[in-house]
Amino acid sequence: MNFETSLDHFLDIATEAALAGGAILQQYWGQLENIQEKGRPGDLVTEADQAAEQAILAVIQRHFPQHQILAEESGWQGQQDSQFLWAIDPLDGTTNYAHQYPFSATSIGLLIEGIPQVGVIFDPFHRELFRAAQGRGATRNRQPIHVSNTSTLANSLLVTGFAYDRRETDDNNYAEFCHLTHLTQGVRRGGAAAIDLAYVACGRLDGYWERGLSPWDIAAGIILVQEAGGRVTAYDQSPQQLSSGRLLVTNGLIHEALSQALMTVKPLAIDWPAQAEA
Ligand code: IPD
Ligand code: CA
Ligand code: CA
Repeated sequence: MNFETSLDHFLDIATEAALAGGAILQQYWGQLENIQEKGRPGDLVTEADQAAEQAILAVIQRHFPQHQILAEESGWQGQQDSQFLWAIDPLDGTTNYAHQYPFSATSIGLLIEGIPQVGVIFDPFHRELFRAAQGRGATRNRQPIHVSNTSTLANSLLVTGFAYDRRETDDNNYAEFCHLTHLTQGVRRGGAAAIDLAYVACGRLDGYWERGLSPWDIAAGIILVQEAGGRVTAYDQSPQQLSSGRLLVTNGLIHEALSQALMTVKPLAIDWPAQAEA
């Protein structure tokens, strides 16, 4: 099998794994008995995250026992010197899921030599399967998708998110959220980075930015947006480094303007009340 045909194979297996994970998410929906905080307040893990991850790992490891894996709940596995790295979020949008707010997905990305090249995001609650591989375009339920053609911030609908360390740092994205809300038709906070990226890829949203992200949140979405004709960089438009956790993604047309807005925003001076009791 040469490299080109392998990409199709990787995409098929990623799809099989994402569908398996999604089936588990549906199975546990509304049935959770074990919701715990992993570390920071609000950073939840449930038996659905764990079970979906096991189902996904079983598929990936059965087909590619030599590959390396970084999965949110079980960490690093496999061969450290492999050129293939699977970045797996079994349940992106755990907070939504725990509240039965149906906006969550399974996200599976494959990095080859550190570059996202295959991505599958499956939202089982809306039956939407987003897929992409390098040079093959992006699809939603097997139909080609493309980013929007909105060309100004004033006409844009954006999305962002807030990392779990938001109460511990001034770099919490609150100022950026207010600033962009002022400049655009709106800024959504979906609560599932993978779906945010998929929605930019299919043109429902014009742009997305966030900090504090992990590779499993964004690896699949990055290739999806790129293959849908969008642009992915750091906030200052320099090449995005997966390890930075900071991402600016747009349809390309508003990239410069959104970057400019993010780079010039002034911090908010807010005297926050003490955190509410649990
Ligand atoms: C979170 C979601 C959320 C984003 C957070 C992520 P999780 O992932 O993608 O939208 O704002 O930064 O950690 O914890 O639900 O897998
Ligand atoms: Ca996530
Ligand atoms: Ca997760």
